[in-house]
Amino acid sequence: MQKVIITGGTGYIGSHTVVEFQNAGFEVVVIDNLSNSVIEVLTGIESITGIRPIFYQIDVSETKDLETVFKDHKDAVAVIHFAAYKAVGESVKEPLKYYQNNIQGLVNVLSNMIKYDIPNLVFSSSCTVYGQPEKLPVTEDTPVVKAESPYGNTKKINEEIIVDTINSSENLNAISLRYFNPIGAHISANIGELPLGVPNNLLPYITQTAIGLRKELSVFGDDYNTPDGTAIRDYINVCDLAKAHVVAVKRLLNNALRYEVFNIGTGKGSSVMEIINAFESSTGQKLNYKIVDRRAGDIEQVWADTSKANKILCWKAEISLDETVKSAWEWEKKVQKS
Ligand code: WQD
Repeated sequence: MQKVIITGGTGYIGSHTVVEFQNAGFEVVVIDNLSNSVIEVLTGIESITGIRPIFYQIDVSETKDLETVFKDHKDAVAVIHFAAYKAVGESVKEPLKYYQNNIQGLVNVLSNMIKYDIPNLVFSSSCTVYGQPEKLPVTEDTPVVKAESPYGNTKKINEEIIVDTINSSENLNAISLRYFNPIGAHISANIGELPLGVPNNLLPYITQTAIGLRKELSVFGDDYNTPDGTAIRDYINVCDLAKAHVVAVKRLLNNALRYEVFNIGTGKGSSVMEIINAFESSTGQKLNYKIVDRRAGDIEQVWADTSKANKILCWKAEISLDETVKSAWEWEKKVQKS
């Protein structure tokens, strides 16, 4: 059975990716420092697949601890690297925390991969590297611009670190997946998004408002140059996103190019109001919301051209927006019950 190491594997996207690798017949080793997740996520994973992944509570930016894992699992065929801080607003307030953690973490992972000869990396990147693109939809050739936040800058810098490392080593190949906006939860409602504190992201704020945890949703601006005035994003079901990591590893195992980048989205843009309407219509829950000023740092609109991933990875997003927002609601109800 082929083995993969997944850093950040108890996180939102990480946990759904563990499930998809187990479903695909891989043995999974999870590394996570539980700074933004809880160990019960492993039970959620096991309740879906029947397999509890091997787990190490380790901070990837702590070099010594990390090496013990790579030494014990040097037979892994790939590393999927999620472990990083990801709150845009927090990164503006605490840039050094983000640069230290997100960049040192990748450097440690790459150093260990080289030392223990694990040849394949899938890196969790983000459409944030495109900023506000001039032309839509964005392709992988859309220029990468000055990041709008230290968080976004760590993604841009990390992609460059990966390329430089590949160019200097014989036996390292990588794929960067540039995610658009991951949303939703596993259909079982046994794993999902667990924002600690007040959610920054739209859908968890919607579900917490609908369940009564939050008074009302603030819609950040309705004066954008978009059909209904609210900002547009490409919202992709987290399980579709997770599956993209499995096909990326399979591509790397079949002698792909040394380094490739793929946009992982649905190829369709949805406005904030469209998400609200989809939520209300698919769950029957009325949502309290009000229009407020724009949020600093937000871009107006972005969505992906996914033809490269469709063609080369033979991957495309399949789960509908209605099913996705419904899965987020089912998960929220389960979390609040437990
Ligand atoms: C989406 C839209 C908001 C909350 C960020 C990161 C990105 C990735 C996903 C990590 C925007 C609006 C939101 C609310 C609102 N993060 N909104 N009221 O900002 O597109 O992307 O999260 O990988 O890298 O940049 O996602 O969900 O915060 O916002 O009106 O309470 O919803 O203005 O238009 P975003 P988001």
